[in-house]
Amino acid sequence: MKAIQTIREMQQIITSLKTSGKKIGFVPTMGYLHEGHQTLMKQARKENDVLVVSIFVNPLQFGVGEDLDGYPRDFERDRVIAEQEGVDILFNPTVKEMYPNSSTVKVMVQDRTDVLCGKSRPGHFDGVATVLTKLFHIVLPDRVYFGLKDAQQVAVVDGLIQDFNFPIELIPVPTVREKDGLAKSSRNVYLSPLERDQAKELYQGLQLAKTVIEQGERNPEEIVQLVKGHINKTCKATIDYVELRSYPQLRPIETIVGKVILAVAVKFSKARLIDNIILEIV
Ligand code: PAJ
Repeated sequence: MKAIQTIREMQQIITSLKTSGKKIGFVPTMGYLHEGHQTLMKQARKENDVLVVSIFVNPLQFGVGEDLDGYPRDFERDRVIAEQEGVDILFNPTVKEMYPNSSTVKVMVQDRTDVLCGKSRPGHFDGVATVLTKLFHIVLPDRVYFGLKDAQQVAVVDGLIQDFNFPIELIPVPTVREKDGLAKSSRNVYLSPLERDQAKELYQGLQLAKTVIEQGERNPEEIVQLVKGHINKTCKATIDYVELRSYPQLRPIETIVGKVILAVAVKFSKARLIDNIILEIV
């Protein structure tokens, strides 16, 4: 495995790989790697000649008062994990390398940003779309792998790839969970032992809703109230949102039919956790 810090060196290597016809699979991450990231890497490893992983905590996607400085980092540990997963190129640029000057151009996401995480994190998806535009130009991947734990991000990246004509196939990967259902996340380390135990209730709440929908409930408001009630009863935490919307459009729905997403975001003392399930109701 080669660890590369400069854009110039990346571009040289990628150009020669492309010239020899290699298919490049790319997994962008912010590091502090866990089994969620590893699942994306395993799938990308299988489906491509070359596996590129980036580790870059992107300041542009963090809002004021968010956890940019405290975001967990452990590059040496990440390097060992990447090596184990058969990564060919680990790209870990500095902030100065990625953003040497104040930017002259930024990508602005027009649609689907005023709901779910976009509503409570203004500018977040612009930051994600901007860094991904840069990374896609640097890595020139054939396929990119994104986790459905961040389902809104998957929808936004789908829009980015289509609108900007990137010749890239987007592969969404199902959420990887702990044994008790908690979605794996770099931010789970912020949870106290008591909060860690309560955090499983996010997924329990989603599963409860799934059962009730499968039994015939079609009113979104009933489901939202059910999940809010479950979380309030079981967690000492503040609900940021519980929403039921169409997927991937993320439009409001009057009745539960077609492809829908039930998504939650909950703030514990130091960690803001998100989770979702996507259902197809005929
Ligand atoms: P990060 O939070 O590090 O996540 C990197 C990728 O891993 C994302 O596609 C995310 O959805 C996926 N992932 C995280 N937890 C997962 C889980 N439990 N199961 C499946 N996939 C999971 O998302 C980002 O970084 C950044 O926004 C990034 C795309 C790198 C842009 O800066």
